[in-house]
Amino acid sequence: MVSLVGLNDPMSLLIGLLLPALVYVLVVVVKFLLGLRKDIGLGSKFPSPPYHWLYGNNHLTDLTFGEKYLSVIREIVEKNPKAHSYWMLGTINIIQVTHPETIRQLLKSKSKKSNDYGTLRAWLGNGLFLSDGDVWKVHRRLLTPTFHFDVLKQYVSVYNRGATEMISRLSETAKKGEVFEMFQEASMCTLEIILQSAFSGGQMSEETKNEYIAAIRKLKLLFLQMTFQPLYYLSKSAYYLLSPGGREYIRFCKLMHDTAESIVTKRRRQLMHGGSSQQKARLDFLDILLSARYEDGTGLTDLEIREEVDTFLFAGHETTASALSWTLYSLAQHPHHQEKVREEVNHLLSGRDDDTIQWEDLHKLPYLTMCLKEAMRLHTPVPLIIRTVLEDTVIDGVTVPKGFDVSIHLYGLHHNPAVWGPDHMEFDPNRSRPERVKDRDSHTFEIPAVFCRTEELHRSELCTE
Ligand code: HEM
Repeated sequence: MVSLVGLNDPMSLLIGLLLPALVYVLVVVVKFLLGLRKDIGLGSKFPSPPYHWLYGNNHLTDLTFGEKYLSVIREIVEKNPKAHSYWMLGTINIIQVTHPETIRQLLKSKSKKSNDYGTLRAWLGNGLFLSDGDVWKVHRRLLTPTFHFDVLKQYVSVYNRGATEMISRLSETAKKGEVFEMFQEASMCTLEIILQSAFSGGQMSEETKNEYIAAIRKLKLLFLQMTFQPLYYLSKSAYYLLSPGGREYIRFCKLMHDTAESIVTKRRRQLMHGGSSQQKARLDFLDILLSARYEDGTGLTDLEIREEVDTFLFAGHETTASALSWTLYSLAQHPHHQEKVREEVNHLLSGRDDDTIQWEDLHKLPYLTMCLKEAMRLHTPVPLIIRTVLEDTVIDGVTVPKGFDVSIHLYGLHHNPAVWGPDHMEFDPNRSRPERVKDRDSHTFEIPAVFCRTEELHRSELCTE
């Protein structure tokens, strides 16, 4: 009663509204400062690149994750092969593990995907890439049949068609003596492959595909830029709302969501008008999503479906486009390796009527496989992933308390001289010869595949046996 009377007075009304807001801001700031104190304490127990009290380690970079940043990582890993801390600002820091031994220490303890992937959440939602716990388990179980070898076998003709179309586009451009950007071409090829193999054809016009790829490029850039912004660390919601970059990011996320929804709507319409999923030997990813049922008989919600479509559309084409582009780049730089790959392929195809690759051929291309692995080591399509430890975890002799984030820095691991030797910057496909691998910790080769957990798919698409 007292408060109702009080609210008639404008001053009391103002205080009534302002006070809770002030208390809220105070709690956020205190929590932030307490977090910083803990961060600084832990971060200082690990070696780090030269530190600036305000900019942390970022004064050494050009505020992108470009070559300057990568050289900082290589230097710190050379001096401290197992683990280091990286300061994003003078006060915000992340522990990074870069050696099979410390990666194992992290993986042996209980952990989950980090909330620091939060920015990606506005885009990919709670799809497999970001989900954890029960949601992840249930969705993963529903979608596992998508990656069965018998399903993937069906798609070899799709891979062949995608490659043939890309090569004919490139040949046309080359004939005219025009310049082209390989990553764009590779993205068009892998996007078409994922649409055909996982999204029942997908039906995206060339124009939409170009727009989609351009939007992803922009999103990646905005995503990387925001991780260097102080406001982003204070409050992600405030960053999205207040900064031009944040608002643009949300606008592009909406474009992604609209694209995913239109693929789903088109497929639903096809199914309603008699385009049966039964015509295929096995259901593909999208049909599985649409027909999946929980134990209580209900299906996935529209939002759950859209989030998985967003995730697979992005994860399923961008990484492979990157791996393909870097492999071609590396082969172009090293003509003698390129010649060996050509000989291997020619030998495989000799005496055949056409030059399509069959499923059974994939393991008959060992040299090409070694080149793909080496390009992915050298250029690391997914440079790092982050885990939050759910229990106190000893990393390189230091206890990282429960609740802290630790990054597995895959680029750092792939450029660790203690693992690969002093020539780690060289493109040397022979590193993955069985006799050389056996002396090296198996973690070094298999980590991206292990985390991806869709290894069957990218092994077949990229032909890595
Ligand atoms: C060269 C190719 C690829 C590389 C290097 C790669 C790398 C990775 C990495 C490092 C992760 C782990 C992220 C984390 O745990 O924090 C991951 C997860 C994932 N990737 Fe890939 N990936 C590739 C191809 C693909 C393809 C072709 C698809 C789908 C068609 C895909 C779908 C996914 C999904 C759904 C996840 C989340 C898996 C889960 O947690 O269950 N990836 N990938």
